[in-house]
Amino acid sequence: MTCEIMVGLQWGDEGKGKVIDCLSEKADYIARFQGGNNAGHTVICGGTKTILHLIPSGILQNHTHCMLGNGVVIDPSVLTEEIRKLEKSGIEVTSRLLISPLAHLILPWHREIDSFIEEQKSNAIGTTKRGIGCAYADKKARVGIRMGDIFDRQRLKKLLEESLWHAGFFLKNNDKKRYEVDEVLAWIEKNTASYRHRIQNIIPILHRIASDKKKLLLCEGAQGTLLDIDFGTYPYVTSSNTTAGAAGIGLGLAPQHFRKVTGIAKAYTTRVGEGIFPTEDTTEDGKRLAEKGQEYGATTGRPRRCGWLDLVSLRFAAQINGVTSLVITKLDVLKGFEKIRICTGYYLNDQVCTEYPVQTSLLEKVKPSYIEMDGWEEDISSIQSFEELPMAARRYLRFIEENLQVPISMVSVGPGRHQIITL
Ligand code: IMP
Repeated sequence: MTCEIMVGLQWGDEGKGKVIDCLSEKADYIARFQGGNNAGHTVICGGTKTILHLIPSGILQNHTHCMLGNGVVIDPSVLTEEIRKLEKSGIEVTSRLLISPLAHLILPWHREIDSFIEEQKSNAIGTTKRGIGCAYADKKARVGIRMGDIFDRQRLKKLLEESLWHAGFFLKNNDKKRYEVDEVLAWIEKNTASYRHRIQNIIPILHRIASDKKKLLLCEGAQGTLLDIDFGTYPYVTSSNTTAGAAGIGLGLAPQHFRKVTGIAKAYTTRVGEGIFPTEDTTEDGKRLAEKGQEYGATTGRPRRCGWLDLVSLRFAAQINGVTSLVITKLDVLKGFEKIRICTGYYLNDQVCTEYPVQTSLLEKVKPSYIEMDGWEEDISSIQSFEELPMAARRYLRFIEENLQVPISMVSVGPGRHQIITL
């Protein structure tokens, strides 16, 4: 089996959904290994826009099989609704989806606590309020509920009592709703009914396909490297490891299975939520990027902050993910800028550093050092080969490649499935 990991190299929203959909044409299995419905992967196919929050984007190719690994956190009501919507639009999902029994559940109080904290905190993170962080916190506190727990009612009831006892300290102290175990039990049963027979141990299946050289497994990352709980701009990060190393842990595969890591980056940079963003452009240029790129969060609809490509953080992201090929998305959005800025270093304590400083306390102090490259006026949205791109666009791409020392394998020039150049 060939195992390929796909990860975002910025703060999420790099256009992973579309790229994974394209690569899924040749894949047999697509598996999500972390995150939850904080993700919003957009795929436009035949004029229809589909936003997937939990189910891997590869489901839109009708020959594939998809999996949700142990590293994912699942809101049962969101999964039920996502399956229902896709099936209503004619896409068979249930028979093509497997869910790890080790994946943790997002429970109703996780969402409530996430929203409450976000609203009360003076330095809120700007989470998606989907309860992601609270579900992962319960996992680490060893009071979480896992998909495999739903099959034994009496045991599940006991586990829910413990989990609610744990959450109760917070809920009681903040005058929040009192949850009854039976009410939550009924909620879980109702919201897992349509797919409970698809909750299965995926590890033997993964290892069976691992021995078949012809099979291709895509491991679909969500969010982006700079939102990683360890390597991101802490505390303004998500609550899982979003980097390539998490694929093995989030699925149950050993390191030797992974040889290819595709890193996906936008041709500029965006961020939703709070936190450091060295190349953010709050002038007219930033607004223009937002407008032209339609930069609104796919999950929450919030406007994304926009700025220029940051090669310092991209080099770091390429390093820690072990990126073997790069995909650059939304290159078409840069059309019409007379000059395009690229950050090649950071000013820090009166010096220019080219190494990403990792610590938030240092990142808070950096100022970007830019070079400017010529832009282009031509519409590139229907171009199908690298050679047809305007000279300035080719120079821009080659500059990124040389700086990162990683070859570009694809360039996306529009939201549609076929608006992609393979190099
Ligand atoms: P959480 O993952 O909902 O806890 O949010 C933590 C941070 O990650 C916030 O800044 C969110 O905006 C950001 N975030 C989470 N998921 C995504 C995503 O899929 N794309 C972009 N940002 C995200």
